[in-house]
Amino acid sequence: MCGIVGYVGKKNAQDFLISGLKRLEYRGYDSAGIVTFDAKGKATLLRSKGKISDLETKVAKNKRTDTVGIGHTRWATHGEPSERNAHPHKAGKIYLVHNGIIENYKELKSKLEKFHTFASDTDSEVLAALINHFYLDGEYPLSNAVVQALKLVHGTYGIAVVSELKPTEVVVARSGSPLVIGIGHGETLIASDASALLGHTKKAIYLNDGEVASITADSVEIKTLDSQPVSAKVETIKTDLAAIQKGGYDHFLLKEIMEQPASLTETLRGRINLIEKTVHLGGPNLSDKELKSIKHLIIVGCGTAYHAGMLASYYIEQFTNDITIEPVMASEYRYRHAHIPDHTVALIVSQSGETADTLACLRDLKSQGVKTIGIVNAIGSTIAREVDGGTYIHAGPEISVASTKAFTSQAVAMIMFGLTIAEAKGIKNSFIAPYVEEIAALPNEIDNLLQTLPDTIKALAEKYKSYDHAIYLGRDVSYPAALEGALKLKEISYIDANAYPTGELKHGPLALIDDRFFEFVLLPKDNLYDKSISGVQEVLARGGHVVVITNSAEFSLPVDNVIKITTSLKLLAPILMNLVSQLFAYYITTAKGFNVDQPRNLAKSVTVE
Ligand code: M6R
Repeated sequence: MCGIVGYVGKKNAQDFLISGLKRLEYRGYDSAGIVTFDAKGKATLLRSKGKISDLETKVAKNKRTDTVGIGHTRWATHGEPSERNAHPHKAGKIYLVHNGIIENYKELKSKLEKFHTFASDTDSEVLAALINHFYLDGEYPLSNAVVQALKLVHGTYGIAVVSELKPTEVVVARSGSPLVIGIGHGETLIASDASALLGHTKKAIYLNDGEVASITADSVEIKTLDSQPVSAKVETIKTDLAAIQKGGYDHFLLKEIMEQPASLTETLRGRINLIEKTVHLGGPNLSDKELKSIKHLIIVGCGTAYHAGMLASYYIEQFTNDITIEPVMASEYRYRHAHIPDHTVALIVSQSGETADTLACLRDLKSQGVKTIGIVNAIGSTIAREVDGGTYIHAGPEISVASTKAFTSQAVAMIMFGLTIAEAKGIKNSFIAPYVEEIAALPNEIDNLLQTLPDTIKALAEKYKSYDHAIYLGRDVSYPAALEGALKLKEISYIDANAYPTGELKHGPLALIDDRFFEFVLLPKDNLYDKSISGVQEVLARGGHVVVITNSAEFSLPVDNVIKITTSLKLLAPILMNLVSQLFAYYITTAKGFNVDQPRNLAKSVTVE
């Protein structure tokens, strides 16, 4: 949600700011801006509505040699996407970029109005005005003014601030919104995500909540809001530049779908013992005794991460016999008054590791004494750092807003966590072994599917691209897979897609079936196959336009389209079928000519509530 960059050094600041913002554009893309400063503090502020490419055009006409600056790409919360609401915001001599939400901005604004004429509708400009109020035109150090202001603020922020009076210094701070400081040779870089730093430096300091840093070209001084000095821990960024580039694909989404054999292989690396048919996850840091005592598992996530948790819960129930599993949506769970039984462990699932709702649940569960285990992709992210233990899914950077490879890796990582519980509880290896074998086979099975099916699915997408509505159906494990398929379709193609358990059709959704709808049915050859077939027949009897995805060779109902998958998987076939949904959503969206990687109104990392 919004991307922040900053630069202090000897090179051209505009160049870094624009290239950094392009890398962060997935975080928000409705407007953008940069401000740079010359040695005397003369500021050049350039902002525009729309994508970074619009800003870039403006910058090309206003080239500067300035070597200090800050920039921002926005996902609007307060105020419509427009040039005047784009960051950086100015108050007096200072300029500010902000990611997050200032919850008490109205109250602060009413007090500041007599000192500052507001030029935007944003909560961020209120923060700029508040900092300026304490800065007193340079009478106090900027970092002190920032600290004074932040003490009055309720909400979340990652900010970068520069004063015209001291253009060799950038002050940054964070609470709830990520901020990384890159240490270069004679230059210091700032970004809300380490991907913007790649190619410039591999050395980074991840700022913690409640910390403020004063940054120059060759120094970083960090303190807390209570003015206690903090000694910075410099870490190595492990991601490679290639991982955040399209690598020959037209879109990140297709690249990320196609790289699933490799990304899942990374998830499994060193964690499967095919000789003993066991799994080993080191990260959760739970002893056998602790694993054995688990009675209740809560799985917390949003969107795709929630679906992955729900899918894993169906599996974990199959091979454990004395634990209850509750997948929950973080945005709902954080305000529930849920009773948490003894011996509860919570899995906190997040690709970005920054999702505000998920983070709030993590903090709340921890405060209630629940052991929290992260299932996270982004290394060093807030959730990864705050959980008691965790398993990185190691799927590599996911840039496209629609989550694909993370879903597959999250689901499998959680099933593996369930298997470790089962092993500790003494469940017979003969129950566990088939799951272990199928998990190990999954990357290859995915590879086969991705080698053979794309053209067929592309043709299918062409046929269904003009429908307005879709119903996704699945039963048992296929139901969360259907939910995920529908989410993928609606978020990038804007087709109104909803998922139902096949068995629920007759309780209401069947009334919808008409020519405006098509029905996308996930039909694995499992113990509910015959019952699911009845569901398909109910739809056919009402004139539905049915597409069936199945691994059953004998399926022969007269539906509009059948995608038959050849696979040796019996248990994990629904995970494979989800890839068909991913490709289908991708090809429908490209056929409709929409922006696949940056769908309207959305952003990749949802760091606001
Ligand atoms: O980064 P997270 O996994 O915490 O993100 C959770 C959701 O916001 C995310 O999965 C979202 O639903 C995706 N856009 C779905 O494709």
